[in-house]
Amino acid sequence: MTQNELKQQAALAALDYIPDNGILGIGSGSTVNFFIAALANKKHLIGATVASSVASYTLLKQHHIPVVEFNQVATIDVYIDGADEINPLFQMIKGGGGCLLREKILATAARKFVCIADDSKMVKALGAFPLAIEVLPMAQSYVARELVKLGGLPVLREGFITDNHNIILDVHELSFHEPIALEEKLATIPGVLGSGLFARRPADSLLLATTTGIQIKEHR
Ligand code: 5RP
Repeated sequence: MTQNELKQQAALAALDYIPDNGILGIGSGSTVNFFIAALANKKHLIGATVASSVASYTLLKQHHIPVVEFNQVATIDVYIDGADEINPLFQMIKGGGGCLLREKILATAARKFVCIADDSKMVKALGAFPLAIEVLPMAQSYVARELVKLGGLPVLREGFITDNHNIILDVHELSFHEPIALEEKLATIPGVLGSGLFARRPADSLLLATTTGIQIKEHR
């Protein structure tokens, strides 16, 4: 099975988690794109979706799936999203697609976070994948210097502007021994709008696609 076939399997498994008449948060990325395509046949079952990116919003609209603004809803019942890395505590590195800020807002607000991934995303320890950080453009140099002080090697994502009109620094070489402490430290740097480290808000369920089938794992 190819990686894309595995992503599609994980996405299909997530259909069992859509909330009856509820609000469904939609992440971003290629795994989520498979989920959106599959959701098109089940859209009558949900109340509405909230999208974490312009790309997901556009795809939802193309499939005539109802989308509302986050400000219009009181809660997100279930949030479904992929990951770049996920560890055994269901903490994640996300943001390969650059949508981490809105993703983190929806994930944190959600009652339940279901992560969908192929098994290449499961790691013992986070950190091989560079950590995306969304930064206010005028603070780029300052934030980069602060990241170097933390042991990181920040690299500007060239030619990329987020949906929120900001830049992304992809940071290599950070230490992830204490993911929650690292996430909190990053959040205190003025100019940092969000990081792709999802440690304070791990996933609740993981649907991991393997060549021998879907593994359903629940956070303990
Ligand atoms: C986008 C993300 C994605 O969830 C992550 O990059 C995984 O993407 P894919 O499903 O394409 O492998 O965080 O910001």
